Amino acid sequence: MKTDPETSPSARDYRPCNNEAHKHGAVGQPISRLDGPLKVQGKAPFAADVSLSGLLFGSLLYSTIARGSIATIDTIEAERAPGVVLVMTYKNAPRMHPPRPTMSAPKAAAPSELPIMQNPTIHWNGEAVAVVLAETQEQADHAKSLIHINYNELPAVTSFDAAKANSRTPAMVIGQPPVVEIGDAEAALKEAPYKVDQIYRTPRHNHNAIELHAATASWVGDNLTIHDATQKVTHSAWTLAQVFGIEERQVRVISPYVGGGFGGKGLWYHQVLAAAAARLAGRPVRIVLSREGVFRIVGGRTVTEQRVALGANADGHLMALIHTGVSAMTAHNNMAEPFTHSTRHLYAAKAFKIVQEVADMNMIANAFMRAPGESVGTFAVESAIDELAETMQLDPIDLRERMEPTKDPTSGLKFSSRHLVEAYRRGAERFGWQRRLSRPRARQEGDWLVGLGVATATYPYIRMPGGAARIKIYSDGRAVAQMASQEMGMGTATVQAQHISQRLGLPIEMVTFEYGDSSLPDGTIAGGSSQTVSIARAIMAACDVLASDLLKIAGNDTPLAGLTADEVEFQNGGLSKKGQPEIFESFVSILRRAGRDVLASEAAAPPPLEMKEYSMHSWGAHFCEARVNTLTGEIRIPRILGSYDCGRILNPKTATSQFKGGIIMGLGLALTEETLFDERSGRIMNRSLAEYHVPVHLDVPDIDVIWTDIPDPCSPLGARGIGEIGITGVGAAVANAIYNATGKRVHDLPITLDKLLD
Ligand code: MOS
Repeated sequence: MKTDPETSPSARDYRPCNNEAHKHGAVGQPISRLDGPLKVQGKAPFAADVSLSGLLFGSLLYSTIARGSIATIDTIEAERAPGVVLVMTYKNAPRMHPPRPTMSAPKAAAPSELPIMQNPTIHWNGEAVAVVLAETQEQADHAKSLIHINYNELPAVTSFDAAKANSRTPAMVIGQPPVVEIGDAEAALKEAPYKVDQIYRTPRHNHNAIELHAATASWVGDNLTIHDATQKVTHSAWTLAQVFGIEERQVRVISPYVGGGFGGKGLWYHQVLAAAAARLAGRPVRIVLSREGVFRIVGGRTVTEQRVALGANADGHLMALIHTGVSAMTAHNNMAEPFTHSTRHLYAAKAFKIVQEVADMNMIANAFMRAPGESVGTFAVESAIDELAETMQLDPIDLRERMEPTKDPTSGLKFSSRHLVEAYRRGAERFGWQRRLSRPRARQEGDWLVGLGVATATYPYIRMPGGAARIKIYSDGRAVAQMASQEMGMGTATVQAQHISQRLGLPIEMVTFEYGDSSLPDGTIAGGSSQTVSIARAIMAACDVLASDLLKIAGNDTPLAGLTADEVEFQNGGLSKKGQPEIFESFVSILRRAGRDVLASEAAAPPPLEMKEYSMHSWGAHFCEARVNTLTGEIRIPRILGSYDCGRILNPKTATSQFKGGIIMGLGLALTEETLFDERSGRIMNRSLAEYHVPVHLDVPDIDVIWTDIPDPCSPLGARGIGEIGITGVGAAVANAIYNATGKRVHDLPITLDKLLD
């Protein structure tokens, strides 16, 4: 067994600060977003708001076949249309290197390794085949309709069933082996007195952030600047440099505001094409994808088919836990949807069989979408547990408590912190779980059947490797921290300002966190619910360097003379001797005596060793009430509660929004969202918000969220991720509530009313 969390080296990362003087902005306070006023006044510049002189507007034309090549492409009529400056196709696009896909190199950011507009080959239905540049967006959009293309079409794999016939085991599934076997799970399943063995299906989902993907690109010589909406400024800059064969420092990606990301705001083709077209035209270029464009060239969540088989003994202990299945993918990306990842850490079982396969299709590279894997994997497993509880005549929470592991069931590692049972108990009490009738279809109010359901929510703790922060102290006492991080609306900059305020003992008004610019010290991605702790750890490292730098410039004419960095701590905007706060000098005094206007200290975050030492995850329980109309099958969700155990909550207000947003996205996954992929042509048919249904206000009920607030002893600030856990488990909580209401078990998402009508 590993060392105890409290005494491990990573325990040093949990360093609470005790600067009581500035409680208002302190970590744990529900302060409002610092960028809020700018946003509501329309003064926050998003990527499509930047004005540049000579700016051209780009419009993309998308292929209408899934595989083959362009035989002829006639752009003459388009080129002659009003306002058109040029049309770029594979024939005249600048020569570019194929990008490096995500996870193929530390700073790689592309969805796939396909060359972009370099040859006539077509890889999916919807691939960009031409860029029209014009003086206005309308002129570009019109001229695009005048391009004539003939294709040489080749047979394509656009049916999931056909693809499954040739499924393969990928080398890795997002950093984890595709197969985990402990004991003989199939044999144990056969012998188990209680069992469930079911197939669950989840459809494709597309990204629909309110802000459309946008990039404004300009060149000065060989230096490229892109105003982007991205979750990865550092990684985009590195990848663009590699595509254009220039140095990383010659690319600047600026992305101060992002109107929602959810995994979809990565480096897709529009940024590359905007930069290429700007180079060709010798003028700045903006490409804003239309809503259809987002469906065509931004990959989303892929389709899955999963088998979950559970075998239990009479005590409710699992003898066998089997979770296998296949997801669609392309041969040119790295994104096997990791739907079994959470299954590796959730429940104790004697034997495990976990197998993930992929089926290659001719489609856009599928990609990350909020809780990739866990969101759809928990639908399958948490539905199956509900089915097992029904079979055993046990309350589903009681059954889960019986299956609660004492250590990570597949890795054997100690959990850094796991209070899932506590989250269930608190949630059950608050939600009124005891009012649930265990017999399905037992409660009817008028034409409405009413039921309650519950499911586990979970998402791993991730701290990204890499990343560095700079902290600057000015002679007027202000502090500015800098890192090429991202704010997508979740409160990143606000929470880090709180963190710095408390760490240095400065009022939050004296603190700024600068981010969203690749010229700042390397950031980590805003993804995997990892950003807050990744930034926090880099800032902590920079603050350690700051303490020694301050002592250096303080010299001998200070009350701190002779002290080392280990012997001092930050306090009230200065340094004091540990345990002797009266031995103190303020930042202002130190800088003025040294004749300095500013002192800048920079450091890289240490590697995330805590992730190797412990099994670290956020936990939670989702409780849901469902009402189903007996005549129409209409489904209403009047009430939902999330009860979480995600370490220390750094800002209750922004955290509440993160949890609620996740739950709302989970309602979409449960009830409405489904990309309609025409299996004859490989074309996405419902490429608009009129036909791809995300929850709207009337679909969203009262959402209640609570949390344990128990600090994780192994993570920076005691925090774990909160950005993605909200969507996990919701699909199953809804399905389980609908089963309890109606006695009908739906195994394929979304649960639409037709599936409930007899
Ligand atoms: Mo998330 S899918 O890691 O933005």
